[in-house]
Amino acid sequence: MNLIHLMRWVLATLVIASLPAIAVAGVGEGQELYNSFCQICHGALGEGQAKGKSLTDNTANSLNDADLIAVISEGRAGTGMIAWGGSFGEDEIFDIASYVRTLQGKPGLNLGDADSTVSDDPMVLAGEQLFNGNVGCVSCHSYRDQGGSVGPSLDGISSRLSGDALEQAVLNPSASIASGYEAKIVEQNDGSIVRGRFRNDSELAVQLQSEDGSRWVTFFKDRVKSISDSSESLMPEVYATLGATEQQQILAFLKSL
Ligand code: HEC
Ligand code: HEC
Repeated sequence: MNLIHLMRWVLATLVIASLPAIAVAGVGEGQELYNSFCQICHGALGEGQAKGKSLTDNTANSLNDADLIAVISEGRAGTGMIAWGGSFGEDEIFDIASYVRTLQGKPGLNLGDADSTVSDDPMVLAGEQLFNGNVGCVSCHSYRDQGGSVGPSLDGISSRLSGDALEQAVLNPSASIASGYEAKIVEQNDGSIVRGRFRNDSELAVQLQSEDGSRWVTFFKDRVKSISDSSESLMPEVYATLGATEQQQILAFLKSL
């Protein structure tokens, strides 16, 4: 967890802790507020409109509850997503976030379960800690609805990839790139290079998700020098730098998913 995530988490935890009841009770109120203030940009069902992105796509789905609350309260600097924390009380933000969850087909917010785990195998637990901690895999990958969206969700990865393929995927990410997660490289007119996950293409523009996952950036084709496919994975070769024990722990964790 980096500092910003930590601060957001603490903030959201404080918000939640100060609420009398954590329940789905606020969904009705949340819906009213959503329809009045959010629908215009995000669509009645969260499907997205010209001025706001979808709230039901992978990115929005993989925001954990704390991040969801944080983005509604604090907004996203430099985008149409303003901070709503000044306009609404904490419980109203909570209701709106609950309603966004129902648009995503989820039961509501459940911060209490954020750290729950289904395994009691010490190897798996240690691997999960590495995954979420120092090694930072979770900034790009989600499992059980928590985590980033630059890389594929790893739920069910053990049934999608055999043990060998799984090990190859982490040891040598660029050897085979999961489809839909390709990177593109944009060379801007000032010579600077931007890399990101390819998201959308149109006649005029290409849209990339920043490597840290936090932003979607649009590049107009006639305003950059070049746009090309990258043969390298966005996934850093961090696994290969770990000790044997840590590698085994991470693999054990992946195999438990
Ligand atoms: C003026 C248009 C506008 C309004 C009104 C608006 N948003 Fe947004 N919202 C955006 C844009 C644009 C983004 C994408 C920001 C970015 O590039 O990361 C966004 C992002 C978000 C995200 C993050 C989605 C993700 O996948 O990371 C959430 C959640 C969200 N909005 C919820 C809301 C809620 C809830 C409201 C009402 C209280 C609201 N928005 C009102 C424009 C709007
Ligand atoms: C900067 C983002 C980023 C980080 C950090 C990251 N990955 Fe990835 N990962 C990706 C991307 C993007 C892909 C898809 C492209 C590819 O196949 O290389 C991927 C692919 C994978 C796959 C294959 C998934 C599939 O469906 O084929 C596994 C497994 C995986 N990563 C595990 C890990 C583990 C374990 C860590 C931590 C050691 C990690 N990743 C760190 C971005 C990241």
